[in-house]
Amino acid sequence: MAKVDLTTKIGTLIFKNPVTVASGTFGSKDEYARYLNYERLGAIVTKTVTPKPRKGNQMPRIFETPSGMLNSIGLQNKGIDDFIENKIPYFKKIKTHLIVNIAGESIEDFVALAKKLDREKSVSALELNISCPNVKKGLEFCAKPELTYEVVKAVKDTTKLPFFTKLSPEAHDFLGVAEAAIKAGSDALSLINTIRGMAVDVEKCRPQLANVFGGLSGPAIRPIALRYLHEVKCEFDIPVMAMGGIMTAQDALEFLIAGAHLIAVGTANFVNPKATMEILGGIEGYMKRKGYASVNEVRGSLRIKEASEDRSVPAG
Ligand code: SIN
Repeated sequence: MAKVDLTTKIGTLIFKNPVTVASGTFGSKDEYARYLNYERLGAIVTKTVTPKPRKGNQMPRIFETPSGMLNSIGLQNKGIDDFIENKIPYFKKIKTHLIVNIAGESIEDFVALAKKLDREKSVSALELNISCPNVKKGLEFCAKPELTYEVVKAVKDTTKLPFFTKLSPEAHDFLGVAEAAIKAGSDALSLINTIRGMAVDVEKCRPQLANVFGGLSGPAIRPIALRYLHEVKCEFDIPVMAMGGIMTAQDALEFLIAGAHLIAVGTANFVNPKATMEILGGIEGYMKRKGYASVNEVRGSLRIKEASEDRSVPAG
């Protein structure tokens, strides 16, 4: 069979394939370049960039859990000016989309970041991180629809760059928050950020993380991420970048079939730095085996009604 078409479109952006990386799991520049050719990715999503440099939280701030990982990094980065001066020139040479994840403590912070990045020609899109569970200020933006609306609208009024808004599964009114982001002009959503968890060292009788709580990622949260994706796709017509424990092509396909436009590989990068490439190959193999010519045919091919009919108890 001829080559399959993996091209994925979100608004005016055309991605060569739907495979990207989850913010914060792929270094901040060339750390993975010796393992894979960045240009084979549909996009690169950067570690969060903030207005000023941040040292991050105290160590220890990573802890492995069954089928997952807790992190409490705390948005460590060198700040937007360093990013523009020292990271963007590197990405400029790489022929794939660059999506810059940004976070701030106030609406003004988000606006200032969007304004600076708006001038950068090699930036394709932004991802608003309003859902990091490891910082004292910032998480409230995705806790209430009104606050989500305000910050997203302010960014929309500032930049012409398309953007994703990254939401937390911890929002009490998750669909309300998603709706607010969409109404305020978010071009797409990123689902989901990590879920706060905790682990205890029983010998020392103290938390494994200095910050006590950390965001849980990895396969342990995959069914939750899929559920949120499905709920959003049932309610809204909005492209989604999906993340949450995608380790293999089979995992990625679950999200594509449930309607994701892009799939972002996160924790898997720490275990297998070539995971994205293996996933990409696996998606291609699946499409050939099933006779799909385009990934658009895979996206949203979930058959809910038939599944419930197959399993219904025969009458009589
Ligand atoms: C972190 O740097 O704390 C992780 C980023 C995030 O979860 O948004």
